[in-house]
Amino acid sequence: MLILGIESSCDDCAAALVKDGEAILSHAIHSQFDIHKPYGGVVPELASRNHLEKIIPVIEAAMNDARADWTDVDGIAATYGPGLVGSLLVGLSAAKALAFALDVPFLGVNHLEAHLTAIFLEDPTVSFPFLGLLVSGGHTSLYRVEAFGAYTLLGQTRDDAAGEAFDKVAKLLGLGYPGGIAVERLSVRGDPRAFPFPRAMASSKTLDFSFSGLKTAVRYFVQQHEPAFIEARLADVVASFQEAAVDTLVIKVSQAVRSTGVQRIVVSGGVASNKRLRARLEDLARTDGLDVRFPSPQLCTDNAAMVAAVGCRRFRLGESSPFSLNAEPNLLL
Ligand code: KG4
Ligand code: ZN
Repeated sequence: MLILGIESSCDDCAAALVKDGEAILSHAIHSQFDIHKPYGGVVPELASRNHLEKIIPVIEAAMNDARADWTDVDGIAATYGPGLVGSLLVGLSAAKALAFALDVPFLGVNHLEAHLTAIFLEDPTVSFPFLGLLVSGGHTSLYRVEAFGAYTLLGQTRDDAAGEAFDKVAKLLGLGYPGGIAVERLSVRGDPRAFPFPRAMASSKTLDFSFSGLKTAVRYFVQQHEPAFIEARLADVVASFQEAAVDTLVIKVSQAVRSTGVQRIVVSGGVASNKRLRARLEDLARTDGLDVRFPSPQLCTDNAAMVAAVGCRRFRLGESSPFSLNAEPNLLL
């Protein structure tokens, strides 16, 4: 079964061909970093306009890279939410038009389900149940994943997402956009224990997260110190922020393991590519005898292969979506 997956929920325009739900034959991606960089964050109107320009060339690139013919394609899956409405509509409309023209099934995919199950593209040995920690620019949530399609939300952020905190702190400190990678790179040269930023919700019994207090704490810290001091200690400030953000995530994973008894953890979303988070969760896995897994970095951030993989699983079950399916910016899982 050859499935074309399309992803355009935010600032990445991507298309991938996936065979039988596991083999990635091609993955074409056009990143909009340069377009949004001057603004320090994604500008929705610019994002959707650029998707409109790039969607066809990106799909063509995926088809050419896989040396696939349109007659080989058995179904088309596209993200229909959550995300930016204008951006979602571009990929979704392209998918519907192609499916209609080719007379193949069409499926709208929940972006969160795609992130949570992206690991299976590389590691089909993961078994259920597992705790799914989804950490991206728009979401920070913990799920108990019982099976494909059976997700129970255990906790989520009450304000900013983890990736959003990385992006906002990077912007505040003039590190540029996207912030996550910039913070990670500079942190390598800093002392993570230099400044004690807060670990929000650490003692709370719920499995919810909060990151806006951490972001505000960094802002106050910057305001309360001389610019020369911040400049001289920038790597220490950034490393201390990253450590607080990572700690917050590790603490909640640890609490979730204790309260559910589930000892397998799969981490996904853009922030899952953070090396410090990976190292800290691997430490936890060693000390507590847990099984922690991460997709490779290119499958952590937004991509179309994870969308095609969900499509494949659901098409096999006989599922498809009507052409009347609309984009759902606030879609939940
Ligand atoms: O999953 P993703 O590509 O898009 C969303 O669905 O949001 O995640 C993007 C987010 C951004 O906030 C970005 O700063 C963050 O993931 N990110 C990172 C790293 N790479 C990307 N955060 C921390 N460390 C990284 N290495
Ligand atoms: Zn995402």
